[in-house]
Amino acid sequence: MADATVSTSASDALVFFGATGDLAYKKIFPALFAMAKRGRLQVPVIGVAFSGWGVERLRGRARDSIETHGGGIDDPEAFDHLMSLLSYVDGDYRERATFDSLMKALGGARRPAHYLAIPPVMFETVISGLAAAGAAESARVIVEKPFGRDLASARQLNRLLHVAFPESSVFRIDHYLGKEPIENLVYFRFANSFLEPIWNRHHVASVQVTMAEDFGVEGRGRFYEETGALRDVIQNHLFQVVALLAMEPPAATGPDPLRDEKVKVFRTMRPLSPDDLVRGQYAGYRDEDGVAPDSDVETYAAVRLFIDSWRWAGVPWYLRAGKRLAGTVTEARIELRDPPQRLFPDSHQPAGDADYLRFRFAPEAQIALAARVKEPGKAFVGHRHELFLCDEHPGEEAPYERLLGDALSGDGMLFTREDGVEAAWAVVDTVLDQHQPVHRYEAGSWGPAAAAALVADGWQNPVVGGK
Ligand code: BG6
Repeated sequence: MADATVSTSASDALVFFGATGDLAYKKIFPALFAMAKRGRLQVPVIGVAFSGWGVERLRGRARDSIETHGGGIDDPEAFDHLMSLLSYVDGDYRERATFDSLMKALGGARRPAHYLAIPPVMFETVISGLAAAGAAESARVIVEKPFGRDLASARQLNRLLHVAFPESSVFRIDHYLGKEPIENLVYFRFANSFLEPIWNRHHVASVQVTMAEDFGVEGRGRFYEETGALRDVIQNHLFQVVALLAMEPPAATGPDPLRDEKVKVFRTMRPLSPDDLVRGQYAGYRDEDGVAPDSDVETYAAVRLFIDSWRWAGVPWYLRAGKRLAGTVTEARIELRDPPQRLFPDSHQPAGDADYLRFRFAPEAQIALAARVKEPGKAFVGHRHELFLCDEHPGEEAPYERLLGDALSGDGMLFTREDGVEAAWAVVDTVLDQHQPVHRYEAGSWGPAAAAALVADGWQNPVVGGK
């Protein structure tokens, strides 16, 4: 569809499909409540589902969701406000009558935002229903990850969305982009000038990004069987982190200059070959609900990646993510090169002991710069210390609150763009099918021993449970 008008006016209603589902329960109601508490929710909110429910049952579900996942109803006025905005349309997405009821519920709203909190197999039906009823005109659409399951399906999904929505009206969620410490990465890189001279192949030896979770698939066995760690978190969350670490400074502010730079990073990532990937599966995964007894799906993936650009040529980027690992932590570590001359006995460090810069994104935000400092005494020897910054802002917006608010106001900066999503899929496309079988690993470990073969100097395990 032609992108004739790029509207930045605010949406005047939020429609969410899948209102009785898991995503709404865990994320959307808590986000809406948080927005209501800040006085940032003023538009009608219409839940749509095919569950035979009425609005009272949906309100009960919202209360339950906020009590369980939204920190409790600590502002009854905001809760009442949210309830007064909430309505419900029940119906089969395949029937025109459902969309007629939705049009009625929309009343005078002219620029709704439609949030597809439903499995991707239903997208086509819902998009056609919206278009046929005239509900897609001047509207926005918000879609969840995973955006497709490979390059071909992502392209197909983009084509489908564009039948009814121009690209500027499509908001693809990668909730990592709504996290404060991830946004701070861009700020920290480009609001300071001291990093730039060392931020390249001459000073950076390698980069490691670890996303570890100490829990398993938590009832999402069926989803995981279809997805696996590479699709679930590496192609999206960790690639976004890499893009923000690796990109050139955007030429201007605003969503597109930033997204342009990220796309360039994805396009210069060398497509992964089977030797660049080690997959793991935690012991006990095959006993989870919805998981095949002989499943070869990975709950852990480690990759070695190269970015063939002027800035990063030859620098290996090691990424890994897994469930039931030794802790819950997400961290990027930029390993710096040793000094060129060995002036002191300890100025060339064994592998893994070089200076580094460390960004921790979860469970707390940290930035640390590790450098060597002399020990008192006659000898010129020292120790590595971290210059350490821990920046916590209690009460900051959670990702879904931030992203929903941005989508409603038409700000696409924190959303992924068509070309970026497709370029990221192109990097992993081959190894989605061509790979070695999974290696088993024990719960509470750092993943399969086989992953060590990817990294010349060994993985640097983040410290868990504190600094
Ligand atoms: C989701 C994945 O996108 O991100 C989950 O589907 C993962 O498997 C989650 O646990 C991690 O995000 P967060 O913000 O909860 O750390």
